[in-house]
Amino acid sequence: MRIRKAVIPAAGFGTRMLPITSAVAKELLPVNGRPVIEHVVKEAVQAGIKEVILVLSEGKEAVADYFRPNKRLADQLLKNGRHAELEELERIWDLAKITVVYQNEQKGLGHAVLCAKDAVGNEPFAVLLGDSIIQTDNCHSFTQQLIDAFNKYERSVVGVQEVEECLIHRYGIFEGAEFEDGILHGKRLIEKPDQSATDSNLAFCARYVFTPTIFSLLENTGQGVNNEIQLTDGMQKLLEKEGVNGVTLEGERFDIGDPKGLLYANLSIMDFNCGDELG
Ligand code: UTP
Repeated sequence: MRIRKAVIPAAGFGTRMLPITSAVAKELLPVNGRPVIEHVVKEAVQAGIKEVILVLSEGKEAVADYFRPNKRLADQLLKNGRHAELEELERIWDLAKITVVYQNEQKGLGHAVLCAKDAVGNEPFAVLLGDSIIQTDNCHSFTQQLIDAFNKYERSVVGVQEVEECLIHRYGIFEGAEFEDGILHGKRLIEKPDQSATDSNLAFCARYVFTPTIFSLLENTGQGVNNEIQLTDGMQKLLEKEGVNGVTLEGERFDIGDPKGLLYANLSIMDFNCGDELG
């Protein structure tokens, strides 16, 4: 089935990146000269996504503005004969249809996804966290890989990546078994478990494809870890109802919601050598 829509949750406060995030959304910070959000939207577009639903909160409107035509700037560039710059901007403005929904209170990632329910409607959709850039070893869109797995097995999927055992307590963790090269059958999904509570070191890596069933399950999901409505808790219910597969990431995830992650992403600039793939 064609996946046409992607939800990008980007409503978080970004407290790990303070003080800059008191005024500038972390999704607009540059990696390789481009805002993080542009890398994320491009990964979705490369996977055939036509509509991107940005989940924002008050004060983060500039994340959406980045994708909207700026007529005054366009006129000025045209007047000064700066055609190359204008064409570049127009490519960004034309990337995808951008829809904005608001999360009025930061109640957690599960709640942020739920805010996109009406905009998505009754069809499967991708989720890409707005503060994570994924670079695959083969330069192909990781979201495309997830969509391929979704279509092959008609089952929701989550991207997973091995993490050091001492970091397990920071992530959503996937327990399951590989049944095809790089594809795992999910058995249990747990948010931020103690290392001793799981024998898996496979962490979710910021990319998902869901059937719309996730929405009704999230509507009935209460607060979990850190008193937030956790996407992982909704996903566990989805696993019990319809099954959830995992797709192993062959490549790197840059979490730019953390100062070291942003620095690391920029230092890895030489590796962002995917030509037009990442622009
Ligand atoms: P994070 O917890 O990494 O982002 O959520 P945060 O809340 O912005 O960061 P800190 O911990 O305060 O530094 C992962 C993703 O989920 C989104 C965030 O914007 C980020 O893309 N999110 C999180 C929401 O959209 N709404 C929420 O209520 C929570």
